[in-house]
Amino acid sequence: MAAVIAHEVRNPLAVIANAVASLRREGLSRHDHDVLLAILDEETIRLNRLVSDLLSYARPINLQRQRVLLHDVSQRATLMSVHHDARVVYDESSVRGQIWGDANLLRQVFDNLVENAVQATGGTGSVTIAVKQASRETGEGFVVTVSDDGEGMDTQVRNRAKDPFFTTRPAGTGLGLAIVNRIVEAHGGEMWFESRSGEGTTVSVFLPIGTESSPPPDPRRSLDTLPPLSHSDERPVYDELKD
Ligand SMILES: Nc1ncnc2c1ncn2[C@@H]1O[C@H](COP(=O)(O)OP(=O)(O)OP(=O)(O)O)[C@@H](O)[C@H]1O
Ligand SMILES: [Mg+2]
Repeated sequence: MAAVIAHEVRNPLAVIANAVASLRREGLSRHDHDVLLAILDEETIRLNRLVSDLLSYARPINLQRQRVLLHDVSQRATLMSVHHDARVVYDESSVRGQIWGDANLLRQVFDNLVENAVQATGGTGSVTIAVKQASRETGEGFVVTVSDDGEGMDTQVRNRAKDPFFTTRPAGTGLGLAIVNRIVEAHGGEMWFESRSGEGTTVSVFLPIGTESSPPPDPRRSLDTLPPLSHSDERPVYDELKD
């Protein structure tokens, strides 16, 4: 893991060092100067994002369970499309599902999935979010699906998509789905993909209804000194439930 992180950090650092060396050259045109500054901007943003994603991924997950309306939290994710031409719609035939979960972390899950779906369509396709009832041996729950008509995944991408640092996107850190998967598993759920190259993708997330009590602590504590990943200081959105 340390070797992968070193590689991910060294790439942008090499680009930054190169750009600085080029900026020192004499007789640089105004245009080249601006291009090099833009590269420095881009690479620092990339490094900053990498650090934030890495912290999200490495922190132990400490669920702040509350009643969460899945249709609310997934419907909200349609707002992710505001910066694109993609059409992100909520399937109105969805059921009104409610579970015991961490609303802020679940929001992160669906935002990430919708962001991936929008990216897969090149920002111009169509994405549908739906919630259905489902049951597993372990209990009752719901499956939330995010379907897109984008580029799809071949077998290799499908098998590796959840791996940390696996990415096919030039600006991606490859930690999106790894973080999503950790959050889903912390809820006792699971995530899977149905996808073929060129035929779009459906990502499904099963979430059990669960109980108010906390699950056992997450055993994968890679950075013990960090505070738990939770957003308990934010205003709870789902405190007053009508149904
Ligand atoms: N809806 C999708 N359609 C096609 N490919 C996808 C989809 N979602 C994920 N992938 C593939 O899985 C890879 C890993 O996704 P993940 O969200 O972990 O990282 P990323 O999107 O590349 O980067 P980041 O999330 O850090 O911006 C993507 O690079 C892409 O190849
Ligand atoms: Mg992503």
